[in-house]
Amino acid sequence: AHISFDTSSLKTFVHDNELGELQAMVSAADDELRKGTGAGADYIDWLHLPTDYDKDEFARIQKAAAKIQSDSKVLVVIGIGGSYLGARAAIDFLNGAFYQAQRDEDRKSPQILFAGNSLSSSYVHDLIQLIGDRDFSVNVISKSGTTTEPSIAFRIFKELLIKKYGEKGANSRIYATTDRQKGALKTEADAEGYESFVIPDGVGGRYSVLTAVGLLPIAAAGADIDQLMAGARAAEGDYSDADLTKNEAYQYAAYRNILYRKGYTTELLENYEPTMTMFAEWWKQLAGESEGKDQKGIYPSSANFSTDLHSLGQYIQEGQRTLMETVVKVGKPNHDVEIPKEDTDLDGLGYLEGKSMDYVNTKAYQAVVLAHVDGGVPVMTVNIPEQNEFTLGYLIYFFEVAIGISGYLNGINPFNQPGVEAYKTNMFGLLGKPGFEKIGDDLRSRL
Ligand code: PA5
Repeated sequence: AHISFDTSSLKTFVHDNELGELQAMVSAADDELRKGTGAGADYIDWLHLPTDYDKDEFARIQKAAAKIQSDSKVLVVIGIGGSYLGARAAIDFLNGAFYQAQRDEDRKSPQILFAGNSLSSSYVHDLIQLIGDRDFSVNVISKSGTTTEPSIAFRIFKELLIKKYGEKGANSRIYATTDRQKGALKTEADAEGYESFVIPDGVGGRYSVLTAVGLLPIAAAGADIDQLMAGARAAEGDYSDADLTKNEAYQYAAYRNILYRKGYTTELLENYEPTMTMFAEWWKQLAGESEGKDQKGIYPSSANFSTDLHSLGQYIQEGQRTLMETVVKVGKPNHDVEIPKEDTDLDGLGYLEGKSMDYVNTKAYQAVVLAHVDGGVPVMTVNIPEQNEFTLGYLIYFFEVAIGISGYLNGINPFNQPGVEAYKTNMFGLLGKPGFEKIGDDLRSRL
């Protein structure tokens, strides 16, 4: 395995026999997932995506990424939820903390800016200012092709492109990632001749990062998507056995289920690298949208350490005892920095002189685990050797398969998201969308 899952800190929370006692349930969940007998089985094609993907389209993605790199200083990636978070997480994870802030001449690939992931007008305004008169392209991503946030953003950035490059020029700078056949974006892409990429039918938004949804922006940002897929492929092979003693992704699913039943109802995904903040956001959608239904499920949250030890740390150590923690710990940082020597020791840091910052970061991690366990918080650790495309692909698959199994273990359909419609219906009513007039009238009387 290319990552290791460490549960040594669970000893005081989970008895030795408990994992084995879940084997029968895990095997049943594995059957539901792999034989397609579980709820939501129309959406399990992500399971074999690393081995079974459209190779021609993959080559087209690489070509499109190269074109964007050659003719654009900025790529505006328009999408929300599953059509946004994976690419954002991967680009931060792979490109270092300040890739987006670099000067164009120093950046190896275009700046990747994200739009359509909120309804903030100020954000769109500021983004347009930031692009300025630089050359840009747009990748609009929406499986349904009708989501309000990206649709509005796309109108705005399409108009900008047309003003700058004319209609034909604009069309050659728009890349549409959407359904094979349905939806307004598909209709428009066909009518206008945008280069299009497909989100496969059997892959839901939150499981789509290894399709064109994630791959095009990630490749445009200069990452090696072959390695990303290779990592996921290795994980697909390593996490295919239902035997809990051999499958650490399934162990993770089982342990969090055991802990959930003991009242640990919130899970914090934690990192010690700021470039993994958005990875936690991706994971939160994966876990929350998959498991939070039928009035149950672990609430997925996150914390960035050591930063949040100075804000959330107090609660985690001594607040309500409903928290469990899963740390994604990087073995070797991409770059390490030595703590400088000083002749005087006015700041009292002499005892750390010559040590590396990562040495201190890792001691902080060890100290936190011990303290939190003593404080009554179960901690699990997913160790990754380093941050690169391969480990990211591997990690993505680890969590995807674990959350799928976890959903079945908790007796829900991990692949639907009926709850996200309620606010949309209300919003359409209040906005006067055709077909929602009656709902709008009813709601207005309640405002
Ligand atoms: O996972 C999901 O289904 C959602 O988060 C969607 O990805 C999100 O709502 C965006 O949907 P779409 O890609 O249809 O625009």
